[in-house]
This record gives sequence, structure tokens and C-alpha cells, in this order.
Amino acid sequence: MNVAPPPVRLGVLISGEGTNLQAIIDAIANGDLRADIRLVISNKAAAGGLERARRHGIPAMTIDHRVYANRCDFDHALVAALQSRDVELVVCAGFMRLLSPVMIDAFRGRIMNIHPALCPAFPGVNAVRQALAYGARFTGCTVFFVTEGVDDGPIIVQAVVPILPDDDEAALAARIHAEEHRIYPLAIRLYQEKRLEIDGRIVRIRGYENLTASGTLVNPRLD
Ligand code: GRF
Repeated sequence: MNVAPPPVRLGVLISGEGTNLQAIIDAIANGDLRADIRLVISNKAAAGGLERARRHGIPAMTIDHRVYANRCDFDHALVAALQSRDVELVVCAGFMRLLSPVMIDAFRGRIMNIHPALCPAFPGVNAVRQALAYGARFTGCTVFFVTEGVDDGPIIVQAVVPILPDDDEAALAARIHAEEHRIYPLAIRLYQEKRLEIDGRIVRIRGYENLTASGTLVNPRLD
């Protein structure tokens, strides 16, 4: 008899608006994702995402990085808070702090992040502006497992977003954001279903072995 995997226990790290957090909350509410958000942590007390969490009855707290002498001390505080809620998977959703080995070792292979570009292109800050300035025809967003590098870990899901002739940073960022809200819940669902296996740089996804190449995109279009 096959027993369905239990809901995944999430800890979500934010610094800002928390629209990705909202997408995860909505996916759980819609039944698209079996997860239990045990805790939301922001490093900024003013982060809008804290209010979103509280509105949904999710425990939410601020751990202000400025109070700590260094990155490792801050990360020890994160680990303690996350472990106290028995968090299994850490989801960084607009969390603007680099994680030290303290966090990465405590949750190795169990920290996801999202980046508004097609990794490994345009890592770091201002990824949307970088893609525009480079003249790329496509950019997008990437959910990956966090490692010591910057936006460098094994890739779980990507969404491709074409860059249009009239795009400015705000317009392009909005279309990328909309895709983020689709792929982050998907990546977490694949984890919850125990389909993800990390093999070095490669993430294998059980049940998705026979994909065909029907999704090829050309920009501008061929016709
Ligand atoms: C997203 O663009 C994400 O890719 C980046 O930070 C932003 C967070 O947005 N890491 P929000 O706070 O979820 O609205």
C-alpha cells in the first residue's frame, strides 16, 4: 500500500513584501500544496510579509541581523528558531541575507531560494536590470537548493520569460514575479512528494524522467 507523504513543515525567511510567501500560503489553502508553515522569520521588522503571515495565523517573528556581531551568530539564532518549530524545509522568499555555513550545514539540501533570472545567468542583486542591460531575449526565474555560492546551487525548477522590446525594469520584474508565484509552490510540492534527489549539481525529479523537448522557445518568433 502506498502511503502519501505527510505535509512538509516549512520555515519561510523573508525581508520584504512576501508575495512569494503569499503564493505559498494560497497554494496550501487551495489544496495544491501539502505543507504546514511553522514559522516566518524576517530580518526586518517592517517587512510586509510578517503581516501577511499573522493575518493567516502563522507564527511570525523578527530576528534583526544588526543585533548580531557577525553572520554566523545571526545564523545560529535562525537555526535555533527554526529547529524549535521542528522545521524540515527552509524556504528563502526574498530574504536579503547571505547564509553562512552555520545555516547551510544545519539544513543541508533542505534550503530553497528563488532568484529572478535563469541561473547561472545574472546572479546577485539587480538581476532583472542586468538581464535588460545585457540585451538578453529571455530571462526568468529559478528555484534552487542553497549552497555556499551566490545563486549557485542545484536547480529545481525554472520558468522562462521573454524580454519584450518595450520592457522596462518594472514591467519585466512584474512578469517574472508572476512566474515565481507559480514555480515556488511547485518546487516545494516536488520536495513534499519526495521526488527530488540531489546528485552533485543535478537535481533528479522522480516521475519526470520522460519529458520531451516540446517546450522550445524562440524570441522573436520564427514566423
Ligand atoms: C523576488 O523577486 C525573488 O526572486 C527575490 O526577491 C523577491 C522577493 O519578492 N529573491 P517577494 O518579497 O516574495 O514579493
